[in-house]
Amino acid sequence: MKKNTVMTFKQAKIDGEKLTMLTAYDYSTAKLIDEAGVNSILVGDSLGNVILGYEDTVPVTMEDMIHHGAAVSRGTKNALLIVDMPFMSYQVSVEDALKNAGRLMKEGGADAVKLEGGHRVCPQIKAMTEAGIPVCAHLGMTPQSVNAFGGFKVQAKTEEAAKLLIEEALAVEEAGAFAVVLECVPAKLAEIVTKKISIPTIGIGAGAGCDGQVLVYADMMGMFSDFVPKFVKQYAHIGDAMRESVRAYIEEVGAGTFPTEEHTFKIDEEVIDKIY
Ligand code: KIV
Repeated sequence: MKKNTVMTFKQAKIDGEKLTMLTAYDYSTAKLIDEAGVNSILVGDSLGNVILGYEDTVPVTMEDMIHHGAAVSRGTKNALLIVDMPFMSYQVSVEDALKNAGRLMKEGGADAVKLEGGHRVCPQIKAMTEAGIPVCAHLGMTPQSVNAFGGFKVQAKTEEAAKLLIEEALAVEEAGAFAVVLECVPAKLAEIVTKKISIPTIGIGAGAGCDGQVLVYADMMGMFSDFVPKFVKQYAHIGDAMRESVRAYIEEVGAGTFPTEEHTFKIDEEVIDKIY
């Protein structure tokens, strides 16, 4: 399989081929997901919820993203590796955005970065793109703004908000973004946005009309049970399988049926005789 790049994304939109993206936060999971053939791996700042146990993504730091980005990059061969820019690493200034995106590439192994927002982050997207940093935008329900939204809610349901979403999608494309994630927006609106822009839309809770889909891997594997959003399909029940395995382990260790000879190392009897 060939390495996926931003050109793969561009070509997929032209050819009408669907793109796939999943999150990963560690080496072993990234390796499994990469080997399965996904187009892109996202080291999402959702690691704040999934890995670090925060209530939202606001506390996630640059150091967290670099640490997990570098681990994922060591397990990723063919997928395009996108690393999220955490809250307040790009909002304050274009300089901050450039410096921090550069760190995510140099220290975090990113092929591209993702940031949240429309018009207000277009100067950042433009500067990063001009500096050779591919940028994926993120519109709709942008989790870093959860406190401004007053909770995790479907976005752009009114005429005014729907028009604004279309304008923002056009603006991030114009600024140079190579793709845009649409999170929790009505499916019909996502389809309109997808038709209006020439960069791929990657949907999460945005219906089947997008150019691609992204899910948090722990959600789609049935490993994260704190909250299961409506848009998540659980393709496996790994959480149940893990709990059952742990119960079996506890039982076998207690009963003395693990470890058996199969899992045990041998020593010459002569050596044992000599130590008594
Ligand atoms: O942080 C994340 O995992 C994301 C996806 C949900 C798109 O931004």
